[in-house]
Amino acid sequence: IENFQYKGNSLFLDDVELKSLAHQFGTPLIVLSEKRINNNYLKIKSAFSKHFRHFKVHYALKANSNPAVISILRRLGAGADAANPNEAEIAMYSGISPDNIIMTGNNLSYNDLKRALEMNIKINFDDVNQMNILKNELPDIISFRINPGYGNGEFTGIKTAGPSSKFGIPMNEALNGYRTALNAGVKKFGIHMMAGSNNLDPGYFYELSGIFAGIIKTINNELGISFDFIDIGGGFGVPYKNEAALDINETARLIAMALDGIMDSNPDAEIIIEPGRYLVADAGIALATVTDLKNYGRSIAGTDLGMNILIRPALYGAVHEIICINKNDDKLFNYDITGQICENTDFTGLNVKLPGLEPGDILGIMNAGAYVSSMSSNYNSLSRAAEVLISDDNVHLIKKRDDIRDIINNTFIPGHLL
Ligand code: LLP
Repeated sequence: IENFQYKGNSLFLDDVELKSLAHQFGTPLIVLSEKRINNNYLKIKSAFSKHFRHFKVHYALKANSNPAVISILRRLGAGADAANPNEAEIAMYSGISPDNIIMTGNNLSYNDLKRALEMNIKINFDDVNQMNILKNELPDIISFRINPGYGNGEFTGIKTAGPSSKFGIPMNEALNGYRTALNAGVKKFGIHMMAGSNNLDPGYFYELSGIFAGIIKTINNELGISFDFIDIGGGFGVPYKNEAALDINETARLIAMALDGIMDSNPDAEIIIEPGRYLVADAGIALATVTDLKNYGRSIAGTDLGMNILIRPALYGAVHEIICINKNDDKLFNYDITGQICENTDFTGLNVKLPGLEPGDILGIMNAGAYVSSMSSNYNSLSRAAEVLISDDNVHLIKKRDDIRDIINNTFIPGHLL
């Protein structure tokens, strides 16, 4: 990734020495590049804008919901994909207007849906029942999340469509839902799908969009409605293991080709994508300090960054590239990289090739901009990582490390136990 560069033995991100940030802010630390987020946004935006007259990027907040990150994307023109009313509130707090927020949730409560209505944001209903809970308070625009019966993701855990998926509804059920809404006097409609995350093959997006186009056409014909927005979800992948990057221009071209046949029957439709990972993953690196080295049959490098901060390896078997940011030797050794958590699944990398390590060395975990901070926890009562943003030559703290007070703060000891 061009934003990262070794100068001698020391790794720089956008000309800022990472070692000095680790010393200044401590570790575990997540460092993000504003420049890289900008570039990622412009790349995906321009790829699709070439093909669609009305086109919009809604950033999927779940990838990284730090208000500074959201604000970067808001300034570039992005809207938000929120998973629930809390994410919608963070989007608004970050300056995104309600008409640029769409909530796509799963198993939301009446109160959740009511809050979304009050915020005046759009909703992709995950089920017809989810719409029906609102009875006669329906929003102006009704949209359903379709399960196209097909989907793909890097791991089964992040495949979000297909026969065994908990998300969305099949076309026939959606037909019932749109019909109910029509009968209730609704005049505007949207449609949504999100079939899986971290896909690197443009051909997959073509196939998926073709299936979705077929569903859209059927609904157009059966009910005589056309859509105001067509939201094809996210899922645009980034390489974690040296794979070739997703060709986003080719992906956009193929998606446009697959959707071509439905543009006439939906002349006013805005085409929406909801990328999360693509915008922020490779803009972030997580820094961990080596705290102990063990070699009793297995060479283990212990660090201060464990599965409470990076859960993806333990959860999915995900692989993140790990490098030493203060050593750049050619002679490499094999290490399993672990954290401080009391679980044997606590590793950030297995069989990682690194220069000979000593306590105090600092490791950099790549692709830490997405689904790292947002999936972190205080397990073992450890702090989450602090986060900093590198902007044009300035470094900004965008999330302070929580301390033990923050962790205790929301708990109470009942009087009789004092
Ligand atoms: N829209 C909806 C409705 C979603 O559910 C998701 C992700 C996205 C957009 C953004 O997907 P992306 O462009 O980032 O692939 N925690 C997992 C990823 C789960 C993604 C679930 N939904 C991971 O760490 O890989």
